[in-house]
Amino acid sequence: MRFALSIFLFIGLTAASQAQDAATYFRQNCASCHTIGGGRLTGPDLKNVSQRQDRGWLARFIPNPKAMIDGGDPYAVKIKQEARDVIMPSIPTLKPDLVQALLDLIESESKLDQSQFVGLTIGDEPFTPAQISQGLNLFLGKVRLSGGGAACISCHTVNGLGGLSGGRLGPDLTLVYERLQGRKALASWLNAPVTTTMQPLFAAKPFTQDEILALTAFLEDVARKGGQDTSPAALNFFLIGLVGTMLALALFEAAWKGRFRAVRRPQVEASALTPDGHYPKVSKPSHNSKTSSTSNWKIDETR
Ligand code: HEC
Ligand code: HEC
Repeated sequence: MRFALSIFLFIGLTAASQAQDAATYFRQNCASCHTIGGGRLTGPDLKNVSQRQDRGWLARFIPNPKAMIDGGDPYAVKIKQEARDVIMPSIPTLKPDLVQALLDLIESESKLDQSQFVGLTIGDEPFTPAQISQGLNLFLGKVRLSGGGAACISCHTVNGLGGLSGGRLGPDLTLVYERLQGRKALASWLNAPVTTTMQPLFAAKPFTQDEILALTAFLEDVARKGGQDTSPAALNFFLIGLVGTMLALALFEAAWKGRFRAVRRPQVEASALTPDGHYPKVSKPSHNSKTSSTSNWKIDETR
């Protein structure tokens, strides 16, 4: 049952791309975490990877990284630690000949001075307060995503939202900026999400470059303000059963519209950013949210 469902799910995710060539496949399924010669993202830079590790090993690893890591393979465990324990998603339906084609592609791209997979160019000048605030509004659903995708807060939370608590289907994103390893990595991740829930949600409704930058700016700001990541699922969400995720997603799909209107919208509407850049106060009868929920969220105009 579970096996059949997984197959079903993964065929859905990958069938279209299977037919296309390795470069297209790489762009859609690998480039969100890997560059070739552009530095580390969430996963290692793959330039010359077949000189670090032999091809036979890589061909076993790529379709099922978790099995190799769980099996205690020392190299797999080491690269997982370097990835701050983020585990590369498994793709059980990846055909051996496509794996070989991907390895050929990585080898030939590694020989170029400038691979087509060096990744996004994203400056390191500080994000502006306007970008941070746009990111907050997108996160809350106060400003709609131009592709029409669901607001992040329906499934995610971050620290400092005061009375607003986000959904719990997805991991707490307070420290995701650090976990995925910084600005370029997070922006690349959002550019083409490939994980079980995020891919079907946003593959057909991609974020614009502006939205990616704004969301990255917001999540960088959240991470900088720090605090505890409250989600127990944060580090091991890849281990959540696929069946559970699918059921949750189906439930979510069914419940989304009503829930947004009934619960989210009044909260969201009550939460416009104040003109001086403070995070909105959220009225909660029993405690003094005026000071506690706003003080955290002053956008620092001096950065
Ligand atoms: C969600 C992020 C993510 C995606 C998508 C992803 N990887 Fe990875 N990859 C990782 C991480 C993280 C590691 C390090 C091992 C670990 O923690 O699982 C890794 C490791 C690797 C390695 C070994 C690297 C080394 O230095 O030895 C190869 C090869 C690789 N990935 C290829 C691919 C290919 C090919 C794809 C697309 C089919 C892909 N990856 C998709 C995150 C990802
Ligand atoms: C329908 C629920 C849902 C919505 C809406 C959603 N996400 Fe997610 N998100 C998830 C789930 C579940 C995961 C865990 C990985 C997976 O299953 O895809 C996740 C994972 C992530 C991750 C990786 C987290 C990590 O710790 O590695 C990021 C980043 C992320 N989402 C950002 C966003 C942003 C930004 C938005 C809004 C634009 C958003 N998500 C909207 C459910 C959602």
